[in-house]
Amino acid sequence: METAKNSNEFFERVLAAGAILVNIGDIDILLEQILTEARFFTNADAGSIYTVEDNLLSFEHSQNDTIVSRGERIPYTRYTIPKTKDSMAGYVACTGKLLNIEDVRKIPEEAPYSFDESYDKMAFYRTRSTLTLPLVNNRHVVVGVLQLINAKTDKREFIPFHSTMELLGKYYATLGALALERALMTRTLLMRMVNMTEFRDPKETGPHVNRVGSYSVAIYDSWAKENRIPDEERIHNRDVLRMAAMLHDVGKTGISDLILKKPGNLSADERKTMENHCLLGAEVLRNCESSFDEMARDIALNHHENWDGSGYPHGLAGEQIPFMARITAIADVFDALSSARAYKDPWSDRMVTDEMERLFVNKFDPGLKVHFSSQITVLREIKTTYPEQV
Ligand code: C2E
Ligand code: SIN
Ligand code: SIN
Ligand code: FE
Ligand code: FE
Repeated sequence: METAKNSNEFFERVLAAGAILVNIGDIDILLEQILTEARFFTNADAGSIYTVEDNLLSFEHSQNDTIVSRGERIPYTRYTIPKTKDSMAGYVACTGKLLNIEDVRKIPEEAPYSFDESYDKMAFYRTRSTLTLPLVNNRHVVVGVLQLINAKTDKREFIPFHSTMELLGKYYATLGALALERALMTRTLLMRMVNMTEFRDPKETGPHVNRVGSYSVAIYDSWAKENRIPDEERIHNRDVLRMAAMLHDVGKTGISDLILKKPGNLSADERKTMENHCLLGAEVLRNCESSFDEMARDIALNHHENWDGSGYPHGLAGEQIPFMARITAIADVFDALSSARAYKDPWSDRMVTDEMERLFVNKFDPGLKVHFSSQITVLREIKTTYPEQV
């Protein structure tokens, strides 16, 4: 990453970043990308992004090059804090004003906000400059906060954020807010579609489909990194996958309650009916037009196919099975084993990993095993961010 040499280059970077945002449909992928792109054009070492809802600020995602370059991971986590003016992010959320702070340790006593050192202490990090921007929608409501931390030179020295970053950052944050509104609507619509199933199978809930979406992206990311998939393709695929994987079981809407909610094992006949959910899902998603429709249909139809050809509905084998369906199959079974179902209790971590290991012999794509294994910690973190609602 190089510092923009002049304001023209900087401006071009902001425009390019904005163009990427408007093409993203999934809310989680979008939040991550808003931060990634903003860090790129401001040359920021670190940053965090929050969404704002009523009186809460929800911490969604953070990035930190220094910590990653030490070989440490940034945990996948989400938490909420009250929206009050005493933190920088809270102040920006409450007032809709940006904050460009040269040195967080020199914030005047009389400022309403102060810097919370606990993160720096915990992570052995040193925050100096911050640029905190409100994501303001077209109704002038702050829907998110983007906090960039430690602008740096090409020599990785931390410097304050230049004042040109304020205006263009503000423009960029507006694009981000618009994209965020649309992505929120998309998520709502997808969840409504999923909830038509949930009505019937209360144990297989909204959190389940969100987990399957996020696990699938984690596995894909690992695979894409190893296979050096170009950024543009990777960003597009992970976005579409995040949404499409949520609909893997949408065909269960067409299966009777008696079968879906049955506490015990299914009879052979019931099992046959149940297996129809793949064809039903593909039927719901027929008339593919966008890459989203196409991937969603591939996944709904093929997520129970097995690598050795023993799966259903068509008994496809190996690379005949669409790649994204092979990924989602892993995510789906991992979640089914580690969660409660009408017909089973959750399994222990150890039992889950042992069973998954066994299933990589003939059920799952063996080429994806390393990507499942390397992401297991991430998958478990994702699981805690989407707990079952009780
Ligand atoms: P699901 O509960 O989402 O399970 C998804 C997949 O996870 C299953 O696909 C299976 O591959 C895997 N899985 C779930 N539990 C176990 C397990 O105990 N051991 C192993 N090795 N794998 C497991 P499958 O089998 O094709 O089932 C598709 C759907 O059919 C399930 O979705 C569930 O809704 C229903 N189902 C399957 N078995 C039963 C059952 O015994 N009773 C009831 N009521 N429903 C069942
Ligand atoms: C804030 O904006 O104050 C929260 C994060 C931080 O203190 O660095
Ligand atoms: C692909 O089909 O695109 C990838 C093949 C694999 O890694 O299994
Ligand atoms: Fe299924
Ligand atoms: Fe499922």
